[in-house]
Amino acid sequence: MITIKSEREIDLMRVSGALVAKVLDLLEVEIKPGMTTKQLDVMAEEFIRDNEAIPSFLHYVPKSDPDVTPYPATLCVSLNDEVVHGVPSIKRVIKEGDIVSVDCGVYKGGYHGDAARTFVLGVIDEKVQQLVDVTSESLMRGISMAIAGNRLHDISSAIEDYARSFGFSIIENMVGHGIGSELHEDPAVPNYGRKNTGVKLREGMTLAIEPMIALGRSRKAVSRRGGWVAVTEDGKPSAHFEHTIVVRSDKAEILSETFLKRSSS
Ligand code: MF3
Ligand code: CO
Repeated sequence: MITIKSEREIDLMRVSGALVAKVLDLLEVEIKPGMTTKQLDVMAEEFIRDNEAIPSFLHYVPKSDPDVTPYPATLCVSLNDEVVHGVPSIKRVIKEGDIVSVDCGVYKGGYHGDAARTFVLGVIDEKVQQLVDVTSESLMRGISMAIAGNRLHDISSAIEDYARSFGFSIIENMVGHGIGSELHEDPAVPNYGRKNTGVKLREGMTLAIEPMIALGRSRKAVSRRGGWVAVTEDGKPSAHFEHTIVVRSDKAEILSETFLKRSSS
């Protein structure tokens, strides 16, 4: 069931969305080669708790898979060929040339905010830089379709068409989702699909849209040894960006928008 949020609920989600944006802003400023992924996690958890909120991912168990080990951290930090759900570790050192996807969820005032960005460390391969830029832009193109009256897969196809026009591969077995008082609500939001299909979007639907795009040909992310982390099948890098948004009648409202003023490079 897809819930429509009231303006009162959206006000609360705006607070959660702003907080998750601030966590990613903090990490974007602080991330440096030589740090461990665990250091990022500690920084994020402290910041979230200092803001009277709870990390949404910590101890999370998917409803679809209740036997899985509860997620053990605040962040998912996924390096290079890791698509999503990289578990922070004191053994994982970030180095120059890595791409680092950081995904964070916060729970505050009864509602979740969920967002992700892929950070680039130092100078990286041109093609990998393009992958990161295209994944970010594909998210914005998807969001631009999140207007009342459009259909769900208008978002999906905008993401797919843009990413494929550069020859990149869509990770099809991981999807975005509705979000609200639960981290994962209906509907599933795939990053591929046919225009003009799927449920009709209505004002007040809140979605976490999250393209996961890869170099190479991998169409799914696979987990190793039953662990959380999911990697590309061919070992090629992948990027991930996510925003929590509200469907509106004219233009989607992004709840997890950054507060950083980035200098154009
Ligand atoms: N943004 C991801 C998702 O919506 C992160 C979930 S991590 C988990 O699936 F630990 F909560 F599973
Ligand atoms: Co999500």
